Amino acid sequence: MDSPAQRSAPPDIIVVMGVSGSGKSTVARAVAATMGWDFAEGDNFHSASNVAKMHSGHPLTDADRWPWLEAIGDWISAQVSRGESGVVTCSALRRAYRDLLRQGRPAVRFLDVSAPEQTIEGRMQHRSGHFMPPSLLPSQLATLEPLGPDEPGVEVTTEGTPDQVLERSLEALGLRKPG
Ligand SMILES: Nc1ncnc2c1ncn2[C@@H]1O[C@H](COP(=O)(O)OP(=O)(O)OP(=O)(O)O)[C@@H](O)[C@H]1O
Ligand SMILES: [Mg+2]
Repeated sequence: MDSPAQRSAPPDIIVVMGVSGSGKSTVARAVAATMGWDFAEGDNFHSASNVAKMHSGHPLTDADRWPWLEAIGDWISAQVSRGESGVVTCSALRRAYRDLLRQGRPAVRFLDVSAPEQTIEGRMQHRSGHFMPPSLLPSQLATLEPLGPDEPGVEVTTEGTPDQVLERSLEALGLRKPG
């Protein structure tokens, strides 16, 4: 059972950011499950045309991305208005994308996940049924603007086992498992 203090705590929204294959979905699901929070997969907010474009190995343009980011922002706003915390994945590679997500949403903070390129490549080769092909990794790494010191959030490496990454992330975020 939550204590009344926990129930009245303002919602906490964690946006798990990073390049394709860095481990966002894996750690985001684990943090949400551990905390008992809602989870959303940012990839699911893409339009069908964006998915088709990525599938064919073409990077998205900013014009493709703004409606996607707005849709993720809408999910965040809905969580906050219901008073519910949540975790959502969103590559959010550029500062401008993160600023859009944060604009008017002070509950948002970022979990910036990264791993060495070789680690990501190795993991992606074992992944199937995913629309992001490994060929997009170099362009993703070139686009990435790391979290700035004035942005709310923390950075963690996703090296190690998923359990180690979860523990590292909870600690960096200052979150404690309930109960
Ligand atoms: N700590 C880990 N150890 C081993 N494999 C991992 C770890 N974290 C993630 N993986 C694997 O690496 C691959 C990429 O991870 P994941 O799907 O979580 O990345 P992502 O950042 O969500 O990628 P995308 O942006 O393309 O959705 C998956 O196959 C996942 O199972
Ligand atoms: Mg993912």
